[in-house]
Amino acid sequence: MILPILAYNHPNLRIKAEPVGKDYPDLPQLLEDMWETLRKSDGVGLAAPQINKSIKLFIVDARHYESKFPETKNFAKVFINPEIIKMSEETIYYPEGCLSVPGIYEDVDRPKTITINYFDENWQEHTDTYTTIIARIIQHEYDHLDGILFPDRLPMVRKVLIKKKLDNINKGNVNIDYPMIFSNKKKIKQS
Ligand code: NI
Repeated sequence: MILPILAYNHPNLRIKAEPVGKDYPDLPQLLEDMWETLRKSDGVGLAAPQINKSIKLFIVDARHYESKFPETKNFAKVFINPEIIKMSEETIYYPEGCLSVPGIYEDVDRPKTITINYFDENWQEHTDTYTTIIARIIQHEYDHLDGILFPDRLPMVRKVLIKKKLDNINKGNVNIDYPMIFSNKKKIKQS
């Protein structure tokens, strides 16, 4: 089932996510729905808060970048209860977009390399180090669990320049082919 994605100023995107319990009801179905939603929206990552579930879970499909970054070959992964435990001091700029912020792509400065601890969909624990594009996508999705969206990380001058576009998203004036929920300024019940 394709799940609607909350749009930029939806207050539920700002809720800090809770850890996922091993007894979380129907996790395999939720993951299947999230993969289907990510495919439909042609995205590279999807975090649970974007589909109105404030739980520490995101998926990454980095294969879009395969021609440019060979390390993304076959990279499609589930991250449950992730904790970034190390970040490099070196940072790099690269353009980012977000399914909750359609039509806007801006350079974001982020640590180049990270080490992350997480569980996969079989509750196997992993500690992995990622760099460049994969590290970036992971950090973007991880931010969603903290209620942070990539425009928050832009310098003030860029924020001012994209304000009109953000206002349009908030009004629902977007050209997308996946379902979205636009903010009514009220928190909606989480299912
Ligand atoms: Ni995003």
